[in-house]
Parts: sequence; structure tokens; C-alpha cells
Amino acid sequence: MQKTVRFLDTTLRDGEQTPGVSFHLNEKVEFAKALEALGVDMIEAGFAGSSQGDFQAVTAISAAVKTGVCSLARCVESDIRASWDALKNAVKPRIHVFIATSPVHRAAKLNMSKEQVLEAAVSGVRLARSLCADVQFSCEDATRTELDFLYQVYRAVVAEGATTLNIPDTVGYSSVKEYGELIADIRRNVVGDREDIILSAHCHNDLGLATATTLEAIRNGARQVECTVNGLGERAGNAPLEEILMNLRTRKDIYGLEDNLQPKGIYRISRLAAGISGIEVQPNKPVIGANAFAHQSGVHQHGVLRDRSTYEIMNPEELGIPQGGLMLGKLSGRHALREHATELGIHLTEHELNRAFEKFKELADRKKDITERDVMAILREQMHGSLGQYRMHSFQIFSGNRMTSTATVSLNNGGDIVTRADCGDGPVEACFHAVDQITGMPCSLESYQLRAVTEGEDALGEVTVRVRHDSTVMLGKGVSTDIIEASCLAYLNAVNRLLEHQAEHAAKA
Ligand code: KIV
Ligand code: ZN
Repeated sequence: MQKTVRFLDTTLRDGEQTPGVSFHLNEKVEFAKALEALGVDMIEAGFAGSSQGDFQAVTAISAAVKTGVCSLARCVESDIRASWDALKNAVKPRIHVFIATSPVHRAAKLNMSKEQVLEAAVSGVRLARSLCADVQFSCEDATRTELDFLYQVYRAVVAEGATTLNIPDTVGYSSVKEYGELIADIRRNVVGDREDIILSAHCHNDLGLATATTLEAIRNGARQVECTVNGLGERAGNAPLEEILMNLRTRKDIYGLEDNLQPKGIYRISRLAAGISGIEVQPNKPVIGANAFAHQSGVHQHGVLRDRSTYEIMNPEELGIPQGGLMLGKLSGRHALREHATELGIHLTEHELNRAFEKFKELADRKKDITERDVMAILREQMHGSLGQYRMHSFQIFSGNRMTSTATVSLNNGGDIVTRADCGDGPVEACFHAVDQITGMPCSLESYQLRAVTEGEDALGEVTVRVRHDSTVMLGKGVSTDIIEASCLAYLNAVNRLLEHQAEHAAKA
């Protein structure tokens, strides 16, 4: 059996199904490039038949990377053809065809008999295979499907030319042992001695077992794992890439397998995923959480100082986790910032670099030590937001307890400075209301998150907002040592993106 585990990353497809998350086209391309640099074998770039946005994303990513790119498709002709149209320029294209097979999905969702499901799977794979040499097939909700029916469907699609058989634990229902046995059973009863058929694990985390079930699948012969960065995904998410990778690496004595990834890129891609999704990583998240290498107890600290391996089983430097050193100084130039961004895998346009540099200089004036995390936050903010129609010029607030807060905000709209004042329940809301007055586009705030980028009183505050206008929800990010300013910038970033989105839609209509 093959000695290498292949990674299919589905952050841009299953990960984007995280409630409230929607990635921009440029963010998707940037993320795909970072996945390529990380060494993933296959990028699930979207579900081309599901929307114009997904079609564009699969098309753009196919042209931007050399690694494998796949598009999800139902067993429906239009989906499969859309996937192929979008993948045409990919160096290594793959169509990923799926249909639900479990009794509950057949009855409640598809209203199809077993025979109809089987027929759809066969004709879907046949069509996909007539277009593309590499076809993957998934039985959605495989772990709640009758075993004999599962064999029947997988055997039939292998006969049509599917070479990767994905076995989704769609609702994270399987126990670790059951999932391992299922993979072993499919290997015995469907794959046999065919070395060209790869079994693939796709595990959701509803009961917190996604990493464990994925690893058990590997132990039982799966040689592709499907995962997302930071475990993003529908409900409790998908199996996290970083956890699977570091289990394979740290316990090579058990798994004894190779992979094509570069663990050094883990921290960067994790921050990128958090930045573009707006979903911050929980501090105690294995491998990449802020506390994953923090030692609180004196005994532990003492031990780590003497020998890291007393309490650390992985080396944070090998994961690219910055050790808090000073990266760039007050005198660093634009060139150094660009080099640094490129090293971090962030490709900024000239505009974005200029803005990032302005921000960097402002920060250098306000803050003593600039760390990698500061620089990363600034770069991420620029990557997240294009210049947009409105730019912050200045703001003033009048606020205190037992009073209504008021804010006067001035925005630069194509060279014109427009000023409005408004009040609110606190200075942040007052600023948002004043911005609404200027843009004439009132938005409701769906969520607001503030976090300190680094320790210390002069830390940068990073604000992430999710705002709604009509039915469109948009994420915005702002960074500043002043948290009211960071809030205004985040709100403005979301509003600018909403305006761009509206303009794109108007242009298409
Ligand atoms: O969870 C699932 O079943 C899926 C399939 C569509 C592959 O994401
Ligand atoms: Zn899934």
C-alpha cells in the first residue's frame, strides 16, 4: 500500500459552509496559493455549479496554482459540466461527484429509491469521467448508509472510472472504531488489490472526534484525508488539517507514513484562515491555539526552561509560530515590508502595500516593539480590504457614563471630506451611526469581536465586525492601537466591501 498520505484541503468549499462565513474571490485565490505553498496535494476550490461566485473561484484558482484543484458536483449534468468548464485550465483537475446514500437522506432530501441513487451515481461518474481523467466520488452520509448498499454504489462507480472513493462521516456520527472498520471493510470488499484506487476520509466534528476518526481511517488504509484549516466547516466543522498533520508527524512511530506538507507554513495559513473567515481560533485549540505552547504553572515553566521536551511534544518553531522577536523596526522601508509579506505568503498589490506601509509607520510611532504578529495583523487587514470608496479621515467622540455618546466622523470620498455627527449607545455605535449617515447605507451589526494582537498596553487591537445590509452579510476588519479607531475601520471596511458587492451585482444585472 502507498506510503504517503495525501491531503485534500476543503477550507474553500466545506470550510466556507461555516455559518456566517463568505470569502471574497481575491481571498480565495490568496488562500489557495498559501495552500499550495504548504504543499497540499489537492485544493477543493468550490462547488462550481452552485453559484457564479463559486464558478469564478474554481476558474481563478485553477489558473493560479499548479497543485491539484477540484470542484464538487452533484450527480447532475449541469453541475458536472460547470465543474469541468471551471477546471479546464487547471494543471491537475479533478471532478468530485457526490450523492447522498443513507436512508434518511434518500427519503427526506432526495426522495429517491436505492435504485435511483445508484443510477444517478453511475451516470454522474460516467459523465465526469468522459470529461476529466481524475474523478472522485463520495457517498454523502456514508457512515449511516446500509453497508451492502455502500459496497454496491462504490463498486459501480469504480467500474465507471472513479479512482478516489471518499467516505464522508457527514454528521460526525461514527465512533472511532466503527469508522476504522468501515474503511477496512470497503478496502476488502470494494478495492481489493487495486493500487490505483485511493480511499479518502472526510470527517465532521459534531462529537469532537473528527481528528481521531480521520487518523483511524489512515491506520485502516485511507491514503487521502479531507480537512480544513483551523477545522472550519458546517456546524462543529471538519477535521483540522494541522491536527492530522501533527499527529502523523509527532507519532510517526505509530503511523509510519509520509506526507508532502511543509509544517513551517501551519501558523501562517492558520492566521490567514482566521483573518479571512473572521473566526478566531480558540486559545486552547491543539497545535495552533494561543495557549498551545504557553506554560502557566511554575513547575512547567521551570521544566521547559531546562528542557522543552518536558512539557512540549512539538516544536513551535517547526510550525512557523513566531517566538515574539522584533521583526521590523521604525526605520524599515517599504521594500522590507514587501519582502516580509512575501515570506509570509501574502501578495499585496501596490495599493495594498502603500496602505500597509502607512499603517506600519503609524504603528512604529505609537508602539515600542513591533512583532511579527503586529505585522501579520496589518498585512491581513490590507489583504482583507481593498481601498474602497470611503477612507477614514478623522473622528472625534464625546462619551462617558450617564450620557449619550456622540461621534463626529469625517470620511474621504474620492477626495471630498464629508463630515457627519450622530449619537449612539456608546462611542462605537455613535461612530457607526455617523458612518451610516455619510454612506447613506444603514447596516445592522451582526457580530463584533475585539482582540489584542499582542500582549502589553500598547498592543494593537484587531476588530472584526459582521454587518448586514438587506440580505447581504459582510465581514470587516480594522487594526489600530486605538480600539474606537479599529472599530470604525472595521465597520468602514465592511461597508466598502458591501458597496463593491452591490456594484458587482449591478454590473452583472
Ligand atoms: O460532508 C459531506 O458529506 C461532504 C460531501 C459533499 C463530500 O462534504
Ligand atoms: Zn463535509
